[in-house]
Amino acid sequence: PGIWFLDPALVTTAMSESSISYLDGEAGILRYRGYPIEQLAEKSTYLEVAYLLLNGELPTEDQLSSWVGEVTHHTFIHENVRKRFLEGFHYDAHPMGILVSAVAALSTFYLDAKEIFDPEARHRQIVRLIAKMPTLAAAAYRFSQGMPFVYPDNALSFPENFLSMMWKIAEPRYEADPRLIRAVDVLFILHADHEQNCSTTAMRVVGSAHSDPYSSAAAACAALYGPRHGGANEAVVKMLTEIGSMENVPDFVRSVKEGHGRLQGFGHRVYKNYDPRAKIIKNVAYDVFDVTGKNPLLDIALKLEEVALSDEYFISRKLYPNVDFYSGLIYQAMGFPVDMFPVLFAIPRMSGWLAHWQELLDQDAKIARPRQRYVGAELRDFVPIADR
Ligand code: CMC
Repeated sequence: PGIWFLDPALVTTAMSESSISYLDGEAGILRYRGYPIEQLAEKSTYLEVAYLLLNGELPTEDQLSSWVGEVTHHTFIHENVRKRFLEGFHYDAHPMGILVSAVAALSTFYLDAKEIFDPEARHRQIVRLIAKMPTLAAAAYRFSQGMPFVYPDNALSFPENFLSMMWKIAEPRYEADPRLIRAVDVLFILHADHEQNCSTTAMRVVGSAHSDPYSSAAAACAALYGPRHGGANEAVVKMLTEIGSMENVPDFVRSVKEGHGRLQGFGHRVYKNYDPRAKIIKNVAYDVFDVTGKNPLLDIALKLEEVALSDEYFISRKLYPNVDFYSGLIYQAMGFPVDMFPVLFAIPRMSGWLAHWQELLDQDAKIARPRQRYVGAELRDFVPIADR
C-alpha cells in the first residue's frame, strides 16, 4: 500500500539518513564526520580516519594506540585461506576477482561472524576485515605474479606493511621511501568513504538482510569491480596511453565531443565541480614522482585537463576531473599493475563500508526491498511445449 515512484538507479532517492560523510557536489566539498577531507589528508592517518568513520569522533592517544594495536594483531590470514583457497585460482586470475571471493570466504572462518547484534563480536569482525584487506590484496597480487606469499610484518605501520607484503623480495625487511608510505596513507584516507556510492549501497542492501559483514562486504567489493565504479582509474591510464602524446589531445577531445566514448576520470554523478579528492591527489602525484620519476603520461593528463576545462562542452555539463583522473598515474609510477587499481580502492573503502553497515544496524533499518513498475506480458495461459 502507499504511493511509490519510479526512480531508476535511485538518482533522486535518499535510501537512508547518515552521519558519516557529507558531500556537496555543487561546491566540491567532502567531509568525514564533519572534518574537511583536506585537513584529514594533511594531518591524519588512514587508521585514525577509519576509527573516526566507525566511531564518529577522532580517537584520543590511548584510543588510537589500542585501535592500531588491535588492527595490527589481526593482519594475518588463516593458512587455509592462502594455501587451499587463494592458491586454487587459475594463475592468471584477476586480483579483484580473487579479493571478492576471498572476502566472502572469510565468513566461513569465523564462527562469530553472524553474531552481528553482539557488540563485541561485531567489533571483532570489523577489526578483522580492516586488518586483513592489505594481506589479501597483496596475496592476490603475488599469486597472480607467481611470487611467494609474504607474511605481514607487524612491526610496520599499516601502509608500510602493505607495501612490504607487495614488494618484499629478501630478508630482513622491505624498506619503502617514507614519501611513498605517506602517499599510500593519503590515498587510503581519500578513498575511505564517499557516502552512498554504488558499492556502499550494495553493502547496505545486503547488510539490511542481516547477512554477516564478510558476505555484505564481498557484495560491495563486487560492485567496486565494475568499470563504472572502481575501474575508472584503469580506464584513465589506458586512455592516456592510447592518446600517446600531448599533440593528440585536441583531436581526442574532439572525438569525445562527437560521441566517441567518454573522457575517463571526468564527470561525477554528484560533483558538478572539481572533485576535492582530485585536487589533493594531484599534489600527491608530484610527491610520488619525486621518488619514482615522472610518469610520462602526466604531461598528457595535464594537457587533457587544460583543454577540457576550457571547452564549452565540458563547462556546460559541469564535467571536472574526479578522484580517478590522477590516482592511476600514481599507482602506475609506484609499480602497481592496472588490474590492482580496484584492489587498492577496496582496501581503505572497507572502513567506509563497515561504518555504513554498522550505522544501518544501529538504525534498525528495514530490509531493502524496492518496488518496480511492471511492463511485462498480460495474463496468459501456459502453452504445452509441442504447441509453441
Ligand atoms: N566524458 C564526456 N562526456 C561526459 C562524461 C565524460 N566523462 N561524463 C558525462 N558526460 C556527458 C554525458 O554524455 C551527458 O551528455 P548529454 O547531456 O549531452 O547526453 C552529460 O555529460 C551527463 O552525463 P550522465 O551520463 O547523465 O552523467 P552520470 O551522472 O550518469 O555519470 C559518470 C557519471 C561518472 C558515470 C560519468 O561522468 C562517466 O562515465 N565518467 C567517466 C568514467 C569515470 O570517470 N568514472 C569514475 C567516477 S568517480 C569514482 C567513483 O565514484 O567510483
